[in-house]
Amino acid sequence: MSHTNETSGSAGTRRDFLYYATAGAGAVATGAAVWPLVNQMNPSADVHALASIFVDVSSVEPGTQLTVKWLGKPVFIRRRTPEDIESARAVALTELPDINSENANKPATDASDQNRTLDEAGEWLVMMGVCTHLGCVPLGDAGDFGGWFCPCHGSHYDAAGRIRKGPAPRNLPVPVATFTDETTIKLG
Ligand code: FES
Repeated sequence: MSHTNETSGSAGTRRDFLYYATAGAGAVATGAAVWPLVNQMNPSADVHALASIFVDVSSVEPGTQLTVKWLGKPVFIRRRTPEDIESARAVALTELPDINSENANKPATDASDQNRTLDEAGEWLVMMGVCTHLGCVPLGDAGDFGGWFCPCHGSHYDAAGRIRKGPAPRNLPVPVATFTDETTIKLG
């Protein structure tokens, strides 16, 4: 595990804060390093604009997930396999309890798989790791639908993070996110 936190010496703005994380078990702990910086900005009205972080995803292999902490919450960055993509795209909207994409990057779109992912090919899925029922953190590679499972009250999410079974009312929300280069995702 390695990580580097940098604040640029020149301008010293929050935007210069660069965060690297590697995939694996250490990622959550590494992500925690972001928290003090974000926390100290609260309760600024500009917190949303200022709290962007950059995540290096170059080490995330297909079929694995990087979890980073952002704005005090876990964010799942999943690199999906071709099988994940195929199964998620095969699901009809009529099978979904929540037919809204819940994607901040694509407001007012339906929950088809193409509207959930960051890239056209559907390889990258970025979403808040917070169950829409009562806020537990769902487990990856779990549940009945090839995605995530929230053990608190039994909510099952599919390979696109869409709620399929259980008490959670909505799909896992996709935050504002974009690729700034081939291996870097900016959150916020
Ligand atoms: S908090 Fe996830 S099912 Fe209740």
